[in-house]
Amino acid sequence: MANIVSSTSTSLKEYRLLPGLTTEASAKHNVSLHSRLCRSAEGYLTLNTPFVSASMQAVSDDRMAIALARLGGVSVIPVLADEESQMAMVKNVKQYKAGFQTALITFGPDNPIREVQMSQSTHGFSTYPVTDNGLFHGKLLGVITDKDFDAVTDQDIRIAERMKTELVVAEEGTSLMQAKAKMIKTGRGFLPIVSREGTLQSVVFRKDLEHHIRFPNANEDRYGRLVIGAAVTTHPQHRNRITRLIEESVDFLVIDASDGYSAFQQDTIRYIKFLGDTPVIAGNVVTAQAFEYLMEAGADAIKVGMGIGSGCITQEAKATGRGQASALIEVVNARDKYVADGKPYVPIIADGGLSSPADICIALALGADTVMMGNYFAQCTESPGDIHYRNGQAFKKYWMEGSVQARNLGRYFLGGSQNNSTDYFAEGVSGWVPHSGSIFDVVPASCSKLKASLSSAGCYSIEQLHNSAQLEHQSPVALGDSAVHNMVKESEIA
Ligand code: IMP
Repeated sequence: MANIVSSTSTSLKEYRLLPGLTTEASAKHNVSLHSRLCRSAEGYLTLNTPFVSASMQAVSDDRMAIALARLGGVSVIPVLADEESQMAMVKNVKQYKAGFQTALITFGPDNPIREVQMSQSTHGFSTYPVTDNGLFHGKLLGVITDKDFDAVTDQDIRIAERMKTELVVAEEGTSLMQAKAKMIKTGRGFLPIVSREGTLQSVVFRKDLEHHIRFPNANEDRYGRLVIGAAVTTHPQHRNRITRLIEESVDFLVIDASDGYSAFQQDTIRYIKFLGDTPVIAGNVVTAQAFEYLMEAGADAIKVGMGIGSGCITQEAKATGRGQASALIEVVNARDKYVADGKPYVPIIADGGLSSPADICIALALGADTVMMGNYFAQCTESPGDIHYRNGQAFKKYWMEGSVQARNLGRYFLGGSQNNSTDYFAEGVSGWVPHSGSIFDVVPASCSKLKASLSSAGCYSIEQLHNSAQLEHQSPVALGDSAVHNMVKESEIA
């Protein structure tokens, strides 16, 4: 007979933290959200903010990845149908240097002023470097701005006749703070960064500076580049992609599978390990056996969650899945047993079903090291796609990877051919989520609430929360008491 698990599956929303003793050490301003994402060659890859944006086309592109990494979290670029798009996004993030602009339009000395004017009206830029060959990495000769020529009479004049050549420049290797000091000292709003040979490398704009210096939590690799992950599948036809992503210096790979308890997943982990030391995050799993199975192959972190994503219909379609709290409790216990056996600590990522800082807090208290979220980030301005207005309310489009719109067959077909689309059935829906604002406001607001929760629990770090949190399962009636009751909210009265 089949084994019937005796306990009932529980959701994160059914648990609450009991307060612990708060001291100066665990006062809110002393709480750190620093956490381990996965094992790495140097020990662990860590995040200053324990948030990971889901490997979903509606959530994580290069724009989201740059914004989130600057806030201390990280994104996973999804397995897009088009391999080149995934490569380009990873490249854009790795090439992004906060404050150092490299996406520049440059001109040669012999180009006519008319071309500068045309670029100004198309792109809105006012300042352009001039290089000997007109190319970005050419030798810097001067700078031309909208104040250097007469828009009516100078159109056919060569740029060389109007550009400024007395330049203040800084050498490659200059830090953002040094660039700022130099610009203040010399009263410049624009500082070209050049190599020893005088070729243009990047430009710092004064107006951008303050914005970049405001992000001390940015998640950077050892070369100062933003950290980025990419999703791969277990399908053999995607193996070339794995090699290319590693060549693009991706910081970690995530095996994208709705059900990670498979031989294909072990093969893929082993294949990535064979190629080198790029960390590999495996999953998704919801049981101790699956955790142990993936650890046999050497996974560097395990992602937990099945059938609980906000637009997921896996449980309806296939009757597989588990409440996120039960899944976490079982997998965290297996992880703790693994560590107690003398093996290295393995971070756990809670993936799916997290809709508020309270959910995030409970997932972390139950032993997750970081959280992966789709819906939460899809609501932000920085997610792919435009803001739409319906009846005066702002929304963003959100579609699941198993939906008809995404048809991410690589994620939902175990082994075999991922092109076997005749077998396809939806495991997710498409829809709308309310627009919550910019990630630069939303994430700090959530972190503030999280820090307050840890402080109330008497904890100054996520590690301490793992070791000393006291959680209680609440009855439906107790949960009813924890929501607004016996009154009508102002906003609900017409
Ligand atoms: P959310 O944050 O609750 O929206 O959950 C996001 C997570 O749902 C993702 O990170 C995936 O693990 C999972 N997911 C994405 N697409 C689907 C789908 O189509 N069906 C089931 N789960 C999905």
